Amino acid sequence: MSIVITGNPGVGKHTVAEKIAQILGLSIIDINKIAKDAGMFEENEGANDVDTEKLKKILAQRISENNLIVGHLAPYVLEKNQVKKIIVLRRSPYELITVYKNRKYPDAKIKENTGSEILGIIVHDTISRFEEKTVQINITGKTIQEGVEKVITLISSNEGNEKVDWLDLVTKNNDLRKFFAD
Ligand SMILES: Nc1ncnc2c1ncn2[C@@H]1O[C@H](COP(=O)(O)OP(=O)(O)OP(=O)(O)O)[C@@H](O)[C@H]1O
Ligand SMILES: [Mg+2]
Repeated sequence: MSIVITGNPGVGKHTVAEKIAQILGLSIIDINKIAKDAGMFEENEGANDVDTEKLKKILAQRISENNLIVGHLAPYVLEKNQVKKIIVLRRSPYELITVYKNRKYPDAKIKENTGSEILGIIVHDTISRFEEKTVQINITGKTIQEGVEKVITLISSNEGNEKVDWLDLVTKNNDLRKFFAD
């Protein structure tokens, strides 16, 4: 069974996973890279419409014991019995905007992705498939090193699972319009 790191685009999955793979001696399976190599992103730049059944089959053939599987599609292309623990990285939508602007995402794509993080779509879908194997880490305001340490603690001791509610924060800040209006 594998450790999995998932979460919305831009939360820091690959950055953190590369360091963790080094420290723990795991080899990374990058779901996006596998999908890309199989030509599955060619028709749509978003990853929303990939053929998850096909990707699931390809992944099943690739996975072995010492893998760290990474990608926002993880909850849709893995089965519970393939997973030891699935870590959902969470990051404030206010920080994500900066990441997306640096990536030059168009406004609509920024809203789609921050909206998804605020509503907790990935964590919801992860819990519904992986149940008690799901854990969350909030890396907002953390350095990469601190994020890596949090994840390693969670992998090794099972401590540090966090509750995250951006909707509450955004509502209190009176920013619902900023993220959800046209
Ligand atoms: N504490 C942190 N942990 C991880 N990444 C961070 C942190 N702070 C800032 N970053 C930065 O966030 C940016 C996004 O990280 P990264 O590309 O790893 O995201 P990702 O989740 O893999 O995105 P995608 O799903 O699009 O592949 C990077 O520029 C990274 O350096
Ligand atoms: Mg990445």
